[in-house]
Amino acid sequence: MSHYQQPRPLKVVAVSGGLNTPSKTESLLDAILNELQNALAINVHYIKLSEIGTGLGGVISRNDLPASVQQALSAIETADVLIVGTPVYRASFTGLFKHLFDFVDQFALVDVPVLLAASGGSDRHALVLEHQLRPLFSFFQAQTLPIGVYATDQDFTNYQVSSSVLLERIKLAATRALPVFQYAATLPARQTNGQHKQGTVKLNQPIAQPAVLPSAQASGIAGAGQELPVEQRNPATFKVVNG
Ligand SMILES: Cc1cc2nc3c(=O)[nH]c(=O)nc-3n(C[C@H](O)[C@H](O)[C@H](O)COP(=O)(O)O)c2cc1C
Repeated sequence: MSHYQQPRPLKVVAVSGGLNTPSKTESLLDAILNELQNALAINVHYIKLSEIGTGLGGVISRNDLPASVQQALSAIETADVLIVGTPVYRASFTGLFKHLFDFVDQFALVDVPVLLAASGGSDRHALVLEHQLRPLFSFFQAQTLPIGVYATDQDFTNYQVSSSVLLERIKLAATRALPVFQYAATLPARQTNGQHKQGTVKLNQPIAQPAVLPSAQASGIAGAGQELPVEQRNPATFKVVNG
């Protein structure tokens, strides 16, 4: 891939749901990040559940989370793009991966490009990308990229990616992500909306919201050729288009 002159380094936040060290999932994300680094100027913030997971597991209120997890959530909510990966556990993402995203502000990831990755023991669970990860990020109205990367234990030697087929897939995913990521680097840096600071993100309590959730208005509807300004991604300014 050729190197692209971009206005600012892209803030890439990688999230691994792997709980072990070493971890095939973390190596898979490393390989994807290496491929992107060949083409784009990126600043990587790497969040590993193997490192912060124990401080997350028993907590149900965002305000009670340790600083390491608070920082991880802020990084996710202000990422230009996300690269997410998880081992397959019981045909899905790990419980702690989901628990982390349960704390993420509901509207913080609107339009954020997300590259999906997973590693499993078996080929038979490759559709975890489509049936588990994609719906989760669709909920956030994020822009999940069409090409994800799935690896199995056979693709690794000593926990490092060794399969040429997998490396080709990673290259394809990065190449296809490139135009979307380049565009993300032209947008103003994203800010967290600070909702959690008001103590509203508590997992065992219902959050006040309309019966039909507002969707972010498409830029094409806002006006021909107009992009939705970043400040209008704030849910308070969303136009309700569904109800
Ligand atoms: C508790 C547990 C459940 C698992 N469930 C599945 C599964 O349902 N399907 C699958 O293909 N692999 C399953 N695996 C295998 C892991 O997904 C696989 O070995 C993965 O590459 C481990 O990633 P890691 O090295 O990052 O921990 C499971 C492993 C564990 C420990």
